[in-house]
Amino acid sequence: GQKNTLVGKTVLITAGPTYEAIDPVRFIGNHSSGKMGFSLAEEAAKRGARVILVSGPSAQIAHHKNIELHQVTSAKEMLDKVFEFYENTDVAIASAAVADYAPMEIAKEKIKKNDENLTIELVKNPDILKTMGEQKTHQFLVGFALETQNEEENAKGKLQKKNLDMIVLNSLRDAGAGFKNDTNKIRIFTKTERKEFELKSKDDVAKDILNFVEHQLLK
Ligand code: PMT
Repeated sequence: GQKNTLVGKTVLITAGPTYEAIDPVRFIGNHSSGKMGFSLAEEAAKRGARVILVSGPSAQIAHHKNIELHQVTSAKEMLDKVFEFYENTDVAIASAAVADYAPMEIAKEKIKKNDENLTIELVKNPDILKTMGEQKTHQFLVGFALETQNEEENAKGKLQKKNLDMIVLNSLRDAGAGFKNDTNKIRIFTKTERKEFELKSKDDVAKDILNFVEHQLLK
């Protein structure tokens, strides 16, 4: 770490996808592996933080003893778990790929196949990060933006709308960036700054992100 800025701080990290159940055997999900979030958790723990890691379904393993892993499935569960810890959080980093919509009803039995098309009505999920922004008191709040077009404009829009202190943009137009890869390529924005990074391992990306956070905390 830079000046041990994170020692003794509580860092809350969301990671992975959420799964939104359709019936007892099916769900709506996405390609997030949890790697980015788990790399951030390891790095924050190494820097002396107490880390609360709230993760959707992921095959990643948390190693450091300072990481408390809380496994959740749906966006609603992630929201509830995050707000158990948010008040006592110093730095929150939302790297989870949260489903924006969930099936309006979860069928009690496995939905049977027939000759007709099937329509599933979706309702909007809570925006966990936006809610954190609305309830922000002292927390330093970091969001991610996963974009496919108008990347910088969209990321800056999210920084503003979700009341963030900092946003990490990754674009699916950059080779090796985003989901599943062991690498990522990011740009960081605050209200006044913009910094672009090379493609590198998610472990090294986590270092860049936390260096930037520590630098902001020292201001
Ligand atoms: O897990 P990996 O395979 O390593 O992949 C990493 C990643 C691509 C998932 C990660 O780097 C990333 O970009 N995470 C954010 C993905 C995303 O959902 O971005 P978004 O632009 O749709 O959302 C913006 C922000 O709001 C994110 O911080 C997201 O966590 C948050 N959000 C979004 C919707 C919602 N209902 N609740 C939220 O908290």
